[in-house]
Amino acid sequence: MMSCRVASLVLLSLLAASSLVAAYYWRRCRALEAELAALRPEVPEIEVSPAPATMGEVIKLPPPVTRGNVSVEEAISRRRSIRSYADKPLSIFHISQLLWAAQGITDPARGFRAAPSAGATYPLEVYVVVGVGGVVGLKAGVYKYDPESHEIRLVVPGDLREVLAEACLGQSWVREAPVDIVITAVYERTTSRYGERGVRYVHMEVGHVGENIYLECVSLGLGCVVVGAFYDDEVARILRLPEGEYPLYVIPVGFPRA
Ligand SMILES: Cc1cc2nc3c(=O)[nH]c(=O)nc-3n(C[C@H](O)[C@H](O)[C@H](O)COP(=O)(O)O)c2cc1C
Repeated sequence: MMSCRVASLVLLSLLAASSLVAAYYWRRCRALEAELAALRPEVPEIEVSPAPATMGEVIKLPPPVTRGNVSVEEAISRRRSIRSYADKPLSIFHISQLLWAAQGITDPARGFRAAPSAGATYPLEVYVVVGVGGVVGLKAGVYKYDPESHEIRLVVPGDLREVLAEACLGQSWVREAPVDIVITAVYERTTSRYGERGVRYVHMEVGHVGENIYLECVSLGLGCVVVGAFYDDEVARILRLPEGEYPLYVIPVGFPRA
């Protein structure tokens, strides 16, 4: 009887001791976790867009991404002309995607592009007018897009948005956007094959390109508006367009102002 009582007492004491040890380790583990959390460094904001490979006259654009998070139907339904932009620069990734959507090569074997072209005569050229701080890592200036190499080349240095806005009858969104895309046409490339009817084809083509840019903007969380009201000769002079090349669209692009 006596030995049974002693055994129970020993068992109870062992149980009490083990719960004390367990409680101690539980508290110690929580304290260690708190210490480790305090030691963990702050995760810095990561710039996801790659920096330009070359910071010179010719800039190699990052390869275009052909999968996005927005369906074509959603992009069409959300597309709107946006004329007010946040004070936030674009990245070279945005420029790459926008130019690819406008005139990028989508069939390298045959040289076919993102937008259709009558007889694949490709009469359109694309420029980007970049403002000071408009694109991370790019100096201000007018850049011309080369679809074959997916590069842009600086053709006119300096921030030309102000004068471009004046040439667009003072439309403030041209001045305030971080960048303006300008689509020009060399009609001769198409009219030499189709005669006068080629003029109509060129105008249809610029519409396709404009819509592609609108939809790509939706996909990238950007906003734009196509501007057709401007003095042709003034825009041509600002961009230093060669003889026989004419501006058709000026397209301010930026992050929409909230
Ligand atoms: C050929 C063409 C020329 C345009 N020109 C201008 C323009 O000079 N300035 C402007 O702010 N919007 C211009 N727009 C945009 C229209 O004003 C806009 O598409 C219209 O108000 C309908 O709005 P939404 O694009 O949001 O549907 C133009 C649109 C087209 C198709």
